[in-house]
Amino acid sequence: MELVRLTPDSNLSGFDCGDSDLNNFLVEDAKSFLDKRIANSFILLDEGRLVAYFCILNDKISRQEVTNSQWRTIKNKFPVGKQFSSYPAIKIGRFAVSVAYRRQNIGTKLMNIIKDMLNSDRNYSAFRFITVDAYLSAMSFYQKNGFVELTEKDRKDHTRLMFFDMMELP
Ligand SMILES: CC(C)(COP(=O)(O)OP(=O)(O)OC[C@H]1O[C@@H](n2cnc3c(N)ncnc32)[C@H](O)[C@@H]1OP(=O)(O)O)[C@@H](O)C(=O)NCCC(=O)NCCS
Repeated sequence: MELVRLTPDSNLSGFDCGDSDLNNFLVEDAKSFLDKRIANSFILLDEGRLVAYFCILNDKISRQEVTNSQWRTIKNKFPVGKQFSSYPAIKIGRFAVSVAYRRQNIGTKLMNIIKDMLNSDRNYSAFRFITVDAYLSAMSFYQKNGFVELTEKDRKDHTRLMFFDMMELP
């Protein structure tokens, strides 16, 4: 399998992850998001077949999003020096594996590739966290991959904001 950047010429037909919003994003929005510099997408191919995709964009974790006690958890990660009202992050905007390839550890491998990829190039802009608006059905997947819920404020929503601390990487 090979992971490649989505380009204006990428063939995006035939992907089905079982969720129409995620399927439609790939076909209808991914290229225009690339063009408008809103998000970069990457596709995983198995002999030309689309296995999975994700997109990433800049983000931040900010004081306003969380309760006092949860903000303390974030602040405790920065015990020395000036405190800020937000900390830089990269958001996984979309993340999906084709139904035909589910539960084969592909999502987990892809998540590890994202972490390594983001960790290996630190020459330009800095960020501390990876964030994701996790579908409730996918929360256990993210938990297994080291993500934790950021806030209780969204506990009744259909997605939960979760984060991964890059300092947890070896
Ligand atoms: C969530 C998703 C990306 C997981 O991809 P995957 O390749 O099947 O995941 P993995 O095989 O690496 O699974 C690792 C672990 O995550 C958990 N997991 C994965 N899919 C799950 C599901 N549908 N329900 C509950 N737990 C799940 C399991 O604990 C699994 O370990 P196990 O198989 O040993 O029990 C995939 O199911 C998917 O694309 N779903 C539809 C789209 C979606 O929800 N995307 C996330 C948007 S926020």
